[in-house]
Amino acid sequence: MARATSAAAPPAAPADFRLEPGDPRHVAVIMDGNGRWARARGRARVWGHRAGARTVRAITTECARLGLPELTLYAFSSENWRRPRREVGLLMRLLLRHAVGERRTIMDNGVRLRTLGDLEALPVAVRREVERTVELSASNRGTVLRLALNYGGRAEIAAAARRIAERAVAGELAPAQVDEGAVAAHLHDPSMSDPDLVIRTAGEMRLSNFLLWQASYAEFWVTPVEWPDFRETHLHEAIREFRRRVRRYGGVVESQGPGG
Ligand code: FPP
Repeated sequence: MARATSAAAPPAAPADFRLEPGDPRHVAVIMDGNGRWARARGRARVWGHRAGARTVRAITTECARLGLPELTLYAFSSENWRRPRREVGLLMRLLLRHAVGERRTIMDNGVRLRTLGDLEALPVAVRREVERTVELSASNRGTVLRLALNYGGRAEIAAAARRIAERAVAGELAPAQVDEGAVAAHLHDPSMSDPDLVIRTAGEMRLSNFLLWQASYAEFWVTPVEWPDFRETHLHEAIREFRRRVRRYGGVVESQGPGG
């Protein structure tokens, strides 16, 4: 796990930054620090969430420009219900507004919106508008943007285990067939690939119940930059750092020479 060196001065903003072979194909982001960003400016936490929503638009647009196949954003965890009612209400309104107001951005950029998580518990209007945008964008060919909503990694794995058990009881699956592939096939979205790169903003070095199964071999990049201040250049910085990583998947990589 590596921490980015500083919050200041990311590399110059190259509009000509491009993805190269071997770059991440799926980037997942733990968008953290909205509340701290707002409090540091003497404003209510919800102000930070509004600014964070603007960053969502900018980063989604940049991922579409780059042709990144998959982007997953941790927008609302199953633990976020514990926040003050007013803050949860504002987050839900932001999601609703985003689902409707960002349709143009999503369609103009060929983005396919999908969700990850248990949408049942969301307010009906939020769910309806999010699902409408998912439908409208389903035949787009660009970046798949997954919003993790009321999402928890442990709950996702438990739900997969429950469905596997039900199928075993129904005689559709023998216990001996329950391998990693079978578990993966019962997760919320079996079409989702494992993230190659997980970015966390605002400096904490933890996964916070995000993509516990899928992120097993992801490279982790943490920046002190808070989500409202996260810019395209920070994404480029994360991808450049990814290029320097050697992914071993538990194996060994032939040394380049002594100490290599
Ligand atoms: C963490 O900041 C962020 C969230 C709880 C959710 C992210 C939500 C947004 C970016 C806004 C709306 C999203 C969409 C998709 C429109 P925090 O409040 O935990 O920050 P803190 O750690 O500084 O308190």
